[in-house]
Formats: sequence, structure tokens, C-alpha cells
Amino acid sequence: MLTCYDASFATLCDAAGVEILLVGDSLGMVVQGHDSTLPVTMEDMEYHVRLVARGSEKALIVADLPFASYQVSPEQAYSNAARLMVAGAQMVKLEGGQVMADSVRFLVERGIPVCGHVGLTPQSVHQLGGYRVQRDTERLLAEARAVEQAGAAMLVLEAIPATLGRQVTEALSIPTIGIGAGKDCSGQVLVLHDMLDIYPGRKARFVKNFLAGASGVQDAIRRYVEAVKSGAFPAPEHTF
Ligand code: KIV
Repeated sequence: MLTCYDASFATLCDAAGVEILLVGDSLGMVVQGHDSTLPVTMEDMEYHVRLVARGSEKALIVADLPFASYQVSPEQAYSNAARLMVAGAQMVKLEGGQVMADSVRFLVERGIPVCGHVGLTPQSVHQLGGYRVQRDTERLLAEARAVEQAGAAMLVLEAIPATLGRQVTEALSIPTIGIGAGKDCSGQVLVLHDMLDIYPGRKARFVKNFLAGASGVQDAIRRYVEAVKSGAFPAPEHTF
């Protein structure tokens, strides 16, 4: 999985073999220049989902429900998730564990596939006290199980120790997608602008610049796909 925000990159990612394109609310930081994902709106997300859907033919398109678009009620989550599906998403992603279980179930029972996201959840950055590694094993396992039991099809694990990434992956039957969660997740995701070294902001430990040594952008993305599939990425230096 790789994040993607426009049609040209979607076409390149498709051709390079990326299986899942995440239209992430990270676009608030890497495209719009905000210092968090919180200002991203539903209109922003719909716009970028439409662009990615236009450029991609093969990949599964997953779209983030942005901050304040789903936390109030399952009904609010459904009406905004439906907007993203109409724009071209095939699955929506939302952050949170037990507290989101009713909304996950509500969406899944009404035909909208859901990807969960636990660990470091950037929409809660102010409550977490910054972009920090999350190490509470019991809490993480309980959150992951709650999201799976509610019917999620996939789960993103962000910024947790590799041992915990493995533990959660072994405990669940749905695929886990790690970002800073070690090599033993079912798959990996990076932010496109980080792995191409476009984003000028601070780089997390789990980021690798795949453009270094590549012949171009498509080659860099192909190298990422190969490195994830072979297990070469993430290496110990990208891991907590
Ligand atoms: O918005 C995003 O890019 C994400 C990834 C960090 C998983 O949610």
C-alpha cells in the first residue's frame, strides 16, 4: 500500500505494482502544507479520491474519513463514507479502536468495506501529546480485536514496536498494514511524499527514501513494492 493523491501518481503506482492506494488525510500535510491532518475536509477528500480513481485501473482505492467526519455517530460515518464511495473509493479508513466499533459495524452491514487504523492515530495527535510511538500492548490488542470483530477488512498499525506489530498480526485473521510497525505485518504502507523525499518536513524513523539510487519515480515505487514483498523493507533501522 502507498498513499496517493492525484491521477498521475495513481497511474504510476498502478504500473509499478502497488496493490492498494490510500487517499490518506496525510494530504493535509504533504500536499496542503498544514502541520497536522486535522484541517482536511470531506470536500478535499472527495476531490482527491476522484483524481486517484481517474488515474488508477487496478489498485484497490482506500480513502480516509477525515477528522470530525465520522466520530459523532454511525449515521454520520455512513453518510460521509458514502460520499467517498461515490467519489470512487472502494473502502474507507477510520481511526480508533473500541469507540469506533459500532460505526465500523454500521458501515460494513450496509455494504461499505472498512479499514481500521490503531496505534499512532494522527487525528488524535493533541491527545497523544505528539507523534509518538505507542507501546501499550494490552490497549493495542484490545483495539485491534474490537475493530476486527466489528467487521473491518483490514487494519493499519502505525508507530508501534515491531514485537507488537507481530503480536497483533498473529492475533487477527484480517490483514494488517504496518507503517512503523515492523516487518511482520501482512503488508506495509508509506506516505508517497516521504518515500520520494518530496516532503520537506521532519522524517519519521520508519521512512526510507526509495528515490535515492532509482532511475526515476516509477522505478522508486517499483523498488518499494519489491522491497516490501521480499521482506527487505522495513529493515531494523526503520523499526521501533
Ligand atoms: O493518511 C495517511 O497517510 C495514513 C497513513 C499514515 C497510514 O493514514
